[in-house]
Amino acid sequence: MTLFVASTTAPVNIATLKYWGKRDKTLNLPTNSSISVTLSQEDLRTLTSVCTGPEITEDKLWLNGSEESLKSERTQNCLADLRKLRMKLEDEDSNLPKMSKWNVVIVSENNFPTAAGLASSAAGFAALVMAIAKLYELPDSLSEISKIARKGSGSACRSLLGGYVAWEMGEKADGSDSKAVQIAPMEHWPNMKAAILVVSASKKDTPSTSGMQLTVGTSDLFQHRIKDVVPHRFVEMKQAVLEKDWPTFAELTMKDSNSFHATCLDSFPPIFYMNDVSKGIIKLCHFINAFYNETIVAYTFDAGPNAVLYYLEENESKLFAFIYELFAEVPGWDSKFSKDELTQFLSD
Ligand code: PMV
Repeated sequence: MTLFVASTTAPVNIATLKYWGKRDKTLNLPTNSSISVTLSQEDLRTLTSVCTGPEITEDKLWLNGSEESLKSERTQNCLADLRKLRMKLEDEDSNLPKMSKWNVVIVSENNFPTAAGLASSAAGFAALVMAIAKLYELPDSLSEISKIARKGSGSACRSLLGGYVAWEMGEKADGSDSKAVQIAPMEHWPNMKAAILVVSASKKDTPSTSGMQLTVGTSDLFQHRIKDVVPHRFVEMKQAVLEKDWPTFAELTMKDSNSFHATCLDSFPPIFYMNDVSKGIIKLCHFINAFYNETIVAYTFDAGPNAVLYYLEENESKLFAFIYELFAEVPGWDSKFSKDELTQFLSD
């Protein structure tokens, strides 16, 4: 049996300027540009292996150990685009194996809860598209490939690139200019860290696509957000990243999370992604920043109740002292500080 195999991992990215709203649902074209930070591969990631060969009788997908349908329009669009690019290569070089004609088996595994507002679809589609692009030996740039991942899940386009990433919404109706570009690599601002507080690992109740459609169709606040708020914020946040201006970056991040969730609340019927624990975390972050009279932490919430906290490494003990005080009994701690160090710190 002839088989060709490729594997890759793709990290999760967490938006600091949120994508919320589609101007084209099939192509996943957004109503605003967005910005995210791609987390390190050691943290949250999807590992995907793909295999193709003339004897494979149908396309198949295995996700976290169970077989899933590959029939969704989004996945089909990605596969069709990748096969088209491969076919172009095969037309140019008749010695290449005719992989574009063969079926694929995709095996994918997340090391974190799926569909719980931890951007699993972003890492999932980024890994799927990357793995097949690798299998097909496509020469295209990551920004080009990001346009294919975008059709799977909008935010997936940002996971193709590391560090600080912008998804430029583009203007064209065919989506050819709606792609991810790197603002700066992770090394540019290496002391920026993220902590994730998993408030709930269960699946979110309003999937992002239907949530976006509801907001676009019913929220007046949403119109204000995309016309008057996000365009300036996009420029300011990019600048803050380039200048490593932490207080500005942190403030814009928190404001944008609040603005996105406000448009969800302004949808009709309203969508609630955050719960009371999430709101407690927001209050805690503001309390911590006020306590030190300095910006220590910035929170952001996606389409779920889990919090992502951004902070600078040098402030980790200041932040974790509080978090530890409140969540010491919760499992999953991964801190370089001991309990004694943290409690001592707070009493000083
Ligand atoms: O890419 P989707 O369809 O899963 O939507 C992602 C939406 C948010 O996570 C809430 C925001 C974002 O920019 O990632």
